[in-house]
Amino acid sequence: MCGIVGYVGDKQAAPFLLDGMSKLEYRGYDSAGIAVYNKGKITIEKCVGRLADLRIKIKGHEPKGTVGIGHTRWATHGRPSDRNAHPHADESGQFVVVHNGIIENYLKLKEDLQAKGHKFLSETDTEVVAHLLADQYDGDFESTVKKVLRMIEGSYSFVFMCAKEPDKLICTKKDNPLIIGLGEGENFIASDIPAIIAHTRRTYIMSDGEIATVTKDGVWVQNIDGVPITKKVYEVTWNAEAAEKGGFQHFMLKEIYEQPKAIRDTMTGRVGKKEGEITFHELNWTKDAFADIHKIYIVACGTAYHAGIVGKYYLEKFARIPVEVDIASEFRYRDPLVDSHTLMIVISQSGETSDTLAALREAKRLGARTLAVTNVVGSSISREAQQVVYTYAGPEIAVASTKAYTTQLIVMLMLAIYVGNLRGTLDKTLAKQLTQDLKKIPEQLHSMLENVDQIKVFATQYGSCEDAFFLGRSLDYAVALEGALKLKEISYIHAEAYAAGELKHGTLALIVEGVPVIVLATQADVYPKTISNLKEVKAREAIVIAIALEGDHDIDKVADNVIYIPKTGKYLAPLLAVLPLQLLAYYAALTRGCDVDKPRNLAKSVTVE
Ligand code: M6R
Repeated sequence: MCGIVGYVGDKQAAPFLLDGMSKLEYRGYDSAGIAVYNKGKITIEKCVGRLADLRIKIKGHEPKGTVGIGHTRWATHGRPSDRNAHPHADESGQFVVVHNGIIENYLKLKEDLQAKGHKFLSETDTEVVAHLLADQYDGDFESTVKKVLRMIEGSYSFVFMCAKEPDKLICTKKDNPLIIGLGEGENFIASDIPAIIAHTRRTYIMSDGEIATVTKDGVWVQNIDGVPITKKVYEVTWNAEAAEKGGFQHFMLKEIYEQPKAIRDTMTGRVGKKEGEITFHELNWTKDAFADIHKIYIVACGTAYHAGIVGKYYLEKFARIPVEVDIASEFRYRDPLVDSHTLMIVISQSGETSDTLAALREAKRLGARTLAVTNVVGSSISREAQQVVYTYAGPEIAVASTKAYTTQLIVMLMLAIYVGNLRGTLDKTLAKQLTQDLKKIPEQLHSMLENVDQIKVFATQYGSCEDAFFLGRSLDYAVALEGALKLKEISYIHAEAYAAGELKHGTLALIVEGVPVIVLATQADVYPKTISNLKEVKAREAIVIAIALEGDHDIDKVADNVIYIPKTGKYLAPLLAVLPLQLLAYYAALTRGCDVDKPRNLAKSVTVE
């Protein structure tokens, strides 16, 4: 998730680029850069840090010129650094590119280019594209771009510049947003509407596979085979603030809706083309790597801790290694039994949570092997762990974690399949079923997001309650914990999650007439027991909202309301079941007039103990 901009016109490009990038900083902010063409040469200025750091760096000598591109980065390949910042160029400096997305086959392309003598300066996947353009240039910028696009696999939005044809920018996209702003004697390119809204409201919204050649006088769109495409002008009616949130009322809602893409990105290149197989190039573990691991610890805080609980189920089931899950602030003070036979997995969206970092350090001190699962490249945790697996959720801005959680679940599931395959403990038929089910998740979430009216109604009905309970067994219990946290965090309703079998051991005393109880019932192996627990709370006149799999026609006979999720395998259900819980919390908070994105007393990243 990076921000990209481009300008072609009569005015100086740099002021637009910098201003546009400032409106996109919410998409990525670990480094920034611009490239501007002038008198046969493209000048690149870039640096690690926020856009403000770039502004300071170039103050008084901004590159002059009327054609340029810019980028704010959210690192995926290569830590945040001056060298890894975009734009990237080939050695001649004639071909320059900014990119948002992931190029899956970049390692192979890079090796081939290196064999031909190309010298690389960065660790990024993007730099490969600049070298490819130079390598493949046939005297025609457009046809070269098409050739290069045929060679790359992955997801992207790109803007390309060529010093040999400096009057134009070429841009294209696949699975990442890109728009073109239409001006008078000038045109604009951006990954998002906020960047251009101050200049024009007339836009082309680019679709996958479209390639646009943009000059100051016009925009020509075609597909990769050269077939011209007539675009409809889309008139933007949003104000600047709404545009930043992609038209959503809050970042939290936007991030909930981004989950299908975030999950797809996190699976890209990992859920193999071969059924049942998972690849983690960054780990490259062998069977022997686990020969001396006797125990796995998963340590995290808050939502990441809840992802860890799901991870325990996965790892114990598929990899058959004992797993302990611990809250980071507890782990570090209780003299944990950790040694060189322990694998310590820390999970942290931000990679900066102080307790999680301290737990990681403690585990290292005790000799454990360490692995971080995080969303932020170059974060403290990613730097200090011996190995890192990234979630590719993109920046999460709302305090309440949503897309980070679901991508953490995806990583934990992929990791468990990966280790299970390595150790030979995972049944091959089950492995195939799991990867087939995994691939369906983005589309299933997408279809659920198209139909949220029922959830809105429940949230309005029960939004005024003071207490709510979440019950489930097995993986449903792990999801119940996250559902309760979401609800209390943003709506301030007192919410508790219980393993449904624990009810009789105390909690049942709290169940009185009219209390909403959300019962998760997606786990077939414990389903009859969950239904018994549901009946227990119904007998106390609680109002039950059940979360069940489509096709379950028994549950609506006993629950007051049922939210159905698409049919999926037992292990995938948490990924779908959490979505209605996120939305219930969101709409309940709206009903109560809460500040959804910035709940009281909470911060996005907890960097103090
Ligand atoms: O950045 P981290 O994943 O380490 O953060 C951990 C928790 O602070 C975080 O998940 C918190 O619980 C969320 N606000 C919950 O929505």
